[in-house]
Amino acid sequence: NLTVILLSYRRPGEPPLVSSWVPFIGKALEFRKDAHKFLEEQRRKYGDVFTVLIAGKYMTFIMDPLLYPNIIKHGRQLDFHKFTQEVVPSTFGYPPVLDEVYPGLWDQIRRSFQLLQGDNLSPLTESMMGNLMLVFRQDHFDQDGGWKTNSMYEFCSSAMFEATFLTIYGKPETGSRHVEMEKLREDFVKFDNVFPLLIAQIPIWLLGQTKAIREKLISYFLPQQMSRWSNMSQFIRRRSELFNQQGQLKDVHKAAHHFAILWASVSNTIPATFWAAYYLVKHPEALQVVRQQILDVLRDGGVEFSPNRYTMLSRDQLDKLVFLESSINESLRLSSSSMNIRVAQEDFALRLDAKRSVDVRKGDIIALYPQSMHLDPEIYEDPQTFHFSRFVQDSRGKTDFYKNGQKLKYYLMPFGSGSTICPGRFFAMNEIKQFVCLLLLYFDLQLEDEHKHPSLVSNRAGLGILQPSTDVVLRYRRRAQ
Ligand code: HEM
Repeated sequence: NLTVILLSYRRPGEPPLVSSWVPFIGKALEFRKDAHKFLEEQRRKYGDVFTVLIAGKYMTFIMDPLLYPNIIKHGRQLDFHKFTQEVVPSTFGYPPVLDEVYPGLWDQIRRSFQLLQGDNLSPLTESMMGNLMLVFRQDHFDQDGGWKTNSMYEFCSSAMFEATFLTIYGKPETGSRHVEMEKLREDFVKFDNVFPLLIAQIPIWLLGQTKAIREKLISYFLPQQMSRWSNMSQFIRRRSELFNQQGQLKDVHKAAHHFAILWASVSNTIPATFWAAYYLVKHPEALQVVRQQILDVLRDGGVEFSPNRYTMLSRDQLDKLVFLESSINESLRLSSSSMNIRVAQEDFALRLDAKRSVDVRKGDIIALYPQSMHLDPEIYEDPQTFHFSRFVQDSRGKTDFYKNGQKLKYYLMPFGSGSTICPGRFFAMNEIKQFVCLLLLYFDLQLEDEHKHPSLVSNRAGLGILQPSTDVVLRYRRRAQ
């Protein structure tokens, strides 16, 4: 088979190529089935650095996390944005942001990410707290005080979707909640379910109703609609301003950019919130410690919590919740599967450490797959088990984790790394904390079936937080005074 021989041809100095009998598709199917297992098998056979042909692309995986810093800081020869610049626009339905067509827009968009961080995080966090409180109060606080049941994923998804939407895009012209929210979320879920196929560049016309659903979702963000909303975040206001300065950019494409941000802001946060809440309810002893710390932090701020009152936790108070933060980090460690991708800009020798380098060719992809690090028993003892205080040491966040006796610079990477790291990560952590705080403060919580444990669905491997294989039923009751 000549094709296979040609594909397998390696130059001296290049990493070993995982052999495949299926030219072009290569190992895509096995990778998609269970990426973590597949990569671990290759690591055992080929060592820490190897190349796999996945869907027509040569991808070199760097499996040893001690080598990560060298890849992450590699500048000129490894491009960070090339990959997303090509595939993201076609997924969300806007044209590529090229400087020739939209002068300066790419850089300005990247600068707008600052509005999710630093001092700008305080108004966002405050607004999110109010919106979550609104949704909890109107949807979940009834007076009878009896036990209620609900799908746990649905509970997390509906509250986080709506409160995040209100915080980022603002309130409708009349009333405090958008009346179409449920319909919007339904369409969003349909789109999100085919997202892994779209981002893999499967043509949208092959995906049933997806194109029509995407058009509907985009039309929600047309300028004439958005101009009627109030309390919009500084982040979205700035982005709208930037789009309006671009004479070439059509209204429908401005709307598609806004829709992409909706996807970025909720698609990972929702499953992450589910896992954080699920693990705590599943481990009542952990839940108790986390809840007590929330009550203590409120009390230190002069507030004696009462389930009949409105609760506000400031950004500073959220920062003090180290057990909650550790629990969330632990659930991110167990559920995240993001792949960090860089594209080689030329043929060159990629330096791995003081002694080793490997040759890569122009266009090759260099990939980090942090899930393998997150589940490495040498770094995290008993890696498949949830330990809520794994990231706490001496009442502070624990940051020293080791491999081969060496301290790791990167040990937890649910948000990516280097210059493509998620700009919304601080906001995401805060909003998950806020949701869990309200859940723990206002409700007694139980799982209906304590023996059911959802596993991870691997069809989003490489794309972010994995979803649970089955839902669980949450029993909850308003806490008494
Ligand atoms: C990008 C994870 C929440 C906004 C990313 C990336 C990851 C990620 C892995 C890609 C990084 C890379 O390419 O290396 C997560 C997770 C979240 C979360 C796990 C929740 C638990 C959010 C939120 C927002 C947000 C709440 C906004 C409010 C973005 C944006 C990008 C991004 C705009 C693209 C950045 C770029 O173009 O360079 N996120 N994210 N994310 N995220 Fe998040």
